[in-house]
Amino acid sequence: MQPLRRKSALGPSVPFSLRHPEGYIPKPRGKLPFFFVVFCFAAFVVVMYSEDIKSLAEFSLFRSKSDVAVIPLDLSNRPGLNSEPRQTLADRYKASQSGRNKKPNKKRKKKKAPKIQVVDPVMVENRAGTGAATTWANGTVLETAKMDTPVAKDREEHTAAAAVHVPETCDLSVGDWVYDNVSYPIYREDECQFLTAQVTCMRNGRPDDTYQKWKWQPRDCSLPKFDAKLFLERLRGKRLMFVGDSLNRNQWESMVCLVQSALSPGRKTVTWEGQRTVFHAEEYNATVEFYWAPFLVESNSDDPKIHSIQHRIIKPESIAAHAANWKEVDYLVFNTYIWWMNTLKMKVLRPMAQDWSDHDEVERVEAYARVLRTWANWVDENIDPKRTSVFFMSISPLHISPEAWGNPDGIRCAKETLPLLNFQGPLYLGTDWQMFDVAVNAARSSWRVPITYIDVTHMSEYRKDAHTSVYTIRQGKMLSPEQKADPISYADCIHWCLPGLPDTWNLIIYTRIMSKPVRS
Ligand SMILES: *[C@@H]1O[C@H](CO)[C@@H](O)[C@H](O)[C@H]1NC(C)=O
Ligand SMILES: *[C@@H]1O[C@H](CO)[C@@H](O)[C@H](O)[C@H]1NC(C)=O
Ligand SMILES: *[C@@H]1O[C@H](CO)[C@@H](O)[C@H](O)[C@H]1NC(C)=O
Repeated sequence: MQPLRRKSALGPSVPFSLRHPEGYIPKPRGKLPFFFVVFCFAAFVVVMYSEDIKSLAEFSLFRSKSDVAVIPLDLSNRPGLNSEPRQTLADRYKASQSGRNKKPNKKRKKKKAPKIQVVDPVMVENRAGTGAATTWANGTVLETAKMDTPVAKDREEHTAAAAVHVPETCDLSVGDWVYDNVSYPIYREDECQFLTAQVTCMRNGRPDDTYQKWKWQPRDCSLPKFDAKLFLERLRGKRLMFVGDSLNRNQWESMVCLVQSALSPGRKTVTWEGQRTVFHAEEYNATVEFYWAPFLVESNSDDPKIHSIQHRIIKPESIAAHAANWKEVDYLVFNTYIWWMNTLKMKVLRPMAQDWSDHDEVERVEAYARVLRTWANWVDENIDPKRTSVFFMSISPLHISPEAWGNPDGIRCAKETLPLLNFQGPLYLGTDWQMFDVAVNAARSSWRVPITYIDVTHMSEYRKDAHTSVYTIRQGKMLSPEQKADPISYADCIHWCLPGLPDTWNLIIYTRIMSKPVRS
């Protein structure tokens, strides 16, 4: 972990406390494998075809190989893959405690952040990639060694008022997918009237439903069952808002379906107001909202229906117009990633620009860092941490290169009906880990407001089976039989079927919210 410094409204160069996101493991920088270059092109194609993109005109193709961003892709240290994380949970805990709860250092000593120790290069037993995973399909829950973590202090803080007792120190991003057709899916597709045609894969003709029946089993603790009444009770008189792109909308739909079963017919409605879509849980005077802001900052893509596509231009330092809609919200869940991925450089409006044509081209990751700095500053300066909890969702991975998971006969994600269970990694799906790291750092950068970085990337990489594929809509219309027969062109391997994977993401949000004592 590098110590971070930046200018803030609270004084120059305030050192940040170190908050470790769930499952964050520093990765050595690796070389760019050739097929990643191929992937880049494929990613470009898939983004082109994603549902949010209404216009396909004037894409500039990569001009040369040197145009391809160099992205660190050595995933060999990532959890759940062939090589095991080279640090024990206790190390992670120690590392996270060294920054947590520490008051900002008034003297601003130039202190080196504690390095995460590399002490345990030995393969941990019973983990994905060791072959144990093959037993899951018969419903056997893998027994994993429980590790004693020094969490007593946390437990004290989570007083009796907390309904769920999952310690913050339990890394929910490390675990296994376990087949469970008894408690999954958490709701049924035809029971949730709020699902849009984009995600109702069964209704759209998907023949298999196994993708709905996987439970995420963290290695060191367990996720609770989702209790809609309990959650709505916590949300009483409050607002929960997802802010971001269509993947956050995907997750919003999931959350609406998770809670709606506890509400009476006629007392639950969805309204649309500009960039905001609001689900009203009338009996609880609570709302679950989605706010469209695919770059978080202002851009020329801010209309939720008609986005300017061929020239995405952002204003990296302008967030106020969006953020005015985020004040007074009790739970904020942010994301932004996929909209950054179809060009290697971002178009960035110049500071005194008169119109959108007055822009520069900036390296993607650099622009991403600028935008997330703007966002984190806004959080730092505007959020009352006593009232509002802030979450940032990590990258939602794509599955468009079946060779990457060892299926040379695959067609993007279209033929996948099972998660990746016993893969001998490392897995190069093309996730941009540099962007991941930038977001991790941004989420740690406010020492005043805790931002919970939710790592869904690692667990979701296994879920090549969970995308909407050809069982979806495109530009508002159901894919035709001809289009369904042409997955190379039409399979959506970005978004996810519901019920499905985003339910698990929400279960993590639920776990984190419900493990905190009730605020008065
Ligand atoms: C599942 O498979 C494992 C390994 O083959 C076996 O030990 C276990 O008994 C099986 N469970 C059931 C419920 O069949
Ligand atoms: C769950 O799966 C098992 C094995 O495939 C099957 O025998 C059982 O009937 C299923 N249960 C439900 C509730 O679908
Ligand atoms: C309903 O919730 C809003 C916040 O979303 C709050 O301002 C308002 O006072 C609540 N109304 C009642 C009747 O509790």
